[in-house]
Amino acid sequence: MQNLNHPTYVLGIDTSCDETSAAVLKNGQEILSNIISSQGPLHEPHGGIVPEIASRSHIEKLPAVIDQALKDAAISCKDLTGIAVTTSPGLIGCLLVGLSYAKAMAYQLRIPLAAVNHLKGHLFSPLLEHATTYPFLGLVISGGHTALYHVKSFDSIACLGQTVDDAVGEAYDKVAKLLELGYPGGPLIDRLSGQGNEKAYAFTPARVKKGPLYFSFSGLKTAVKNLVQQTSLAEKNAENFKANVAAAFQKTAIDSLMISAQAALSQYPVRAFAVSGGVAANSRLREQAGQLCHKNNIPLAIPKISLCTDNGAMIAYVGARQLENNQTAPLNCQARPTTPVSAPL
Ligand code: KG4
Ligand code: ZN
Repeated sequence: MQNLNHPTYVLGIDTSCDETSAAVLKNGQEILSNIISSQGPLHEPHGGIVPEIASRSHIEKLPAVIDQALKDAAISCKDLTGIAVTTSPGLIGCLLVGLSYAKAMAYQLRIPLAAVNHLKGHLFSPLLEHATTYPFLGLVISGGHTALYHVKSFDSIACLGQTVDDAVGEAYDKVAKLLELGYPGGPLIDRLSGQGNEKAYAFTPARVKKGPLYFSFSGLKTAVKNLVQQTSLAEKNAENFKANVAAAFQKTAIDSLMISAQAALSQYPVRAFAVSGGVAANSRLREQAGQLCHKNNIPLAIPKISLCTDNGAMIAYVGARQLENNQTAPLNCQARPTTPVSAPL
């Protein structure tokens, strides 16, 4: 419970991948600012993220991004009561930029530091805008992860299943590359799908040996690759080829997610379905998740688009709760590129 006479202001920093972001959260809930500086154009010519370019860009941009977050929140750094920063998972050089900056600020300002898991940030991001009751089913779908979680409380989270190969966002990016659409591929395929016929090609959702709560997207990506390779140049240049492939791919990718989500909802009684991560910005996903919730008679908690992709607000949200629970991080805490599957979020 917050003491309203002494509001808390937590600065959330995320530099885990290709977005430099900082946000200020008041009393653990109210977003006062959320600055996101995307590196998309820097990586576009390479068709994917170049880690060295990403970490150098974070170094250049982070100070100004933090200044802007404080300015938009109309507070000074002396008003901050805590700093939350992503420490795992992510590109190690990128994580280290945010973590080093956060440590220096926490030390200088004599305020506590919270080390936040990026996936936990995504998982709880729907709660920034939606009052959600436990237990809920969480589906995190991003460029690096695709996983289902049974969330009983802030500290009791069970991973029910995840991808056995590519993340769904990664499949979007790879298919966009095959179709020579650009980077990041998700929004481009999403937009192009609207002009295509999803029935033009029959791709099938993968069945994973480990069970219905697991995902696989590499077979779908390979099916698109084979199709593109086997199609003549003339056909490939035909007006609707790319749009049809995009629509058929998108249908299958989103169907896969919904099939596993339904399997989890049938197995675990929950009070809400919370979807998060970059792919939660997808138009078809948002529509289908709404229908799934209607069918299962539970509310859908899905963030607005700017809170789906990487952002500092979701890190501040989780960090604020950790600080309330006295889960502070020492100034010698480490960044880790991966989170072991067995480690609690
Ligand atoms: O959560 P995020 O910003 O970063 C990671 O933690 O990975 O997710 C980025 C991913 C990228 O793969 C991008 O292509 C995908 O989210 N994405 C989308 C859409 N917007 C972003 N995928 C499908 N449809 C979209 N509208
Ligand atoms: Zn992310």
